[in-house]
Amino acid sequence: MKIAIILGTRPEIIKMASVIDEIIKKDMELLLIHTGQHYDPEMSDAFFKDLKLPYPDYNIAVGSFSHGKQTAKMMEGIEEVLVKEHPDIVLVQGDTNAVLAGALVASKLHVPVGHVEAGLRSYDDSMPEEVNRKIADACSMFYFVPTEKSAINLSLEGIDRNKIHIAGNTIVDACYRNLKIAKNPNRQLEFDKKLLNLENIVTLTMHRAENVDNKQRLISIIGAISKLTEANIIFPIHPRTKKTLEDFGLLDKLSKLDHIHLIKPLGYLDFLLLLSKSSLVLTDSGGLQEEAITLNVPAITLRYNTERPETVDVGANILVGADENKIIEFSKKVLNDCEFSNSMKNIKNPYGNGNSGFKIIEIIHNSYLNGNLKITSPEDIMSIFNTKISKINEDINVSDFEDKNNFRIRIVYNGSNIEFPEDNLNLKNKLVVFDVFKNN
Ligand code: UD1
Ligand code: UDP
Repeated sequence: MKIAIILGTRPEIIKMASVIDEIIKKDMELLLIHTGQHYDPEMSDAFFKDLKLPYPDYNIAVGSFSHGKQTAKMMEGIEEVLVKEHPDIVLVQGDTNAVLAGALVASKLHVPVGHVEAGLRSYDDSMPEEVNRKIADACSMFYFVPTEKSAINLSLEGIDRNKIHIAGNTIVDACYRNLKIAKNPNRQLEFDKKLLNLENIVTLTMHRAENVDNKQRLISIIGAISKLTEANIIFPIHPRTKKTLEDFGLLDKLSKLDHIHLIKPLGYLDFLLLLSKSSLVLTDSGGLQEEAITLNVPAITLRYNTERPETVDVGANILVGADENKIIEFSKKVLNDCEFSNSMKNIKNPYGNGNSGFKIIEIIHNSYLNGNLKITSPEDIMSIFNTKISKINEDINVSDFEDKNNFRIRIVYNGSNIEFPEDNLNLKNKLVVFDVFKNN
């Protein structure tokens, strides 16, 4: 079978690495399509090298444009490749423009789409990523969600539970597989090694449009980090951020501060090493919120909302927005209050145990072997359904309940929490929302 993977930015390369590894291990045919959204060597090539990935079969080389133009160019290029190559499935990851373009084009060509990291919601429609992930989810056939919470988001939107697979997050695979390599003392670093011997290392990353393109917010964040003089802030600058810091005349001021260390974006191994030595992460990145909890590093997120609420719920991540006072207050607390800092570490990782890539490829492979990997026009007479809600008194699990009644469960309520209807979940004394099928 032939699996196409569409990616285009730094985090997609990192998060698809374990999926690519599993495809290669299983001797399946891999078709790797790079949209070229990220093109600087340190935003793209470095990751293929560090993660030992095969180079893309196609690079559409879209470059940097407005969203509409960039997405349109991607769609055109992706369509040409898919029409020529006929993959059995297309996998997209996350919430970038590649996900939007890839999912839309593939679904229109009736190629099944698997969305890795599906079901995340920030409920902030001003974010381009929220729009992308919702549209990708509307086009998908397989939803590989990282947590039960994401599964529930999709269930509540009416996605068939059988298409939703709780697989963990592939970032955990990437962290676990690479941390030991990253820590190898004989490895050559691409940044000044002395930085790692500093005290109170704070890793800072930001690139979110709503922060870095907004002068007021950027000034507020920069104001906060300028005042955090007890920290050594290591700031690998994303090209977007470098550009706007320059445009707003802020880069010069930053580079003159002794406790702020501006460096180029790092390769994955160097970045993991830096992260593992950090007392705190300050970030607006999605992936970093997940990596921080995986590596037991407290995170303070420079956003007002997050599509990773699991990290906040368990106490490993604090949302501070772009509020100067809050950034300073919580950063100082993490750096100076050991008890507080410890309470943010050693928390059970909600994103799984590092075998997500394996799970994802197993599910796809089994589906292929069972002949289910296709989108065809239905030939059976339309089955009408009504949605009902009912309390279940019987001692019965989800799949038996569905088989017995020709029902399909959407969501379960146990009296205090909503639960995702996994096959073996017991329904006794629970409220269930389900679809009743009526075959004409
Ligand atoms: C993109 C994704 C975002 C993801 C991020 C990961 C979308 C809508 N955004 O944001 O979800 O979190 O990647 O880093 O898909 N640039 C360079 N060199 C490069 C790439 C970009 O200089 O290799 C500069 C260009 O000036 C460009 C700007 O960065 O205009 C923004 O790049 P773009 O890919 O549009 O968005 P990101 O902010 O990187
Ligand atoms: N990262 C990296 N080098 C850096 C900064 C980040 O390798 O200099 C990695 C980081 O480990 C994480 C990913 O890039 O896995 C996050 O990418 P980014 O923040 O650009 O995107 P997001 O996750 O917000 O979509």
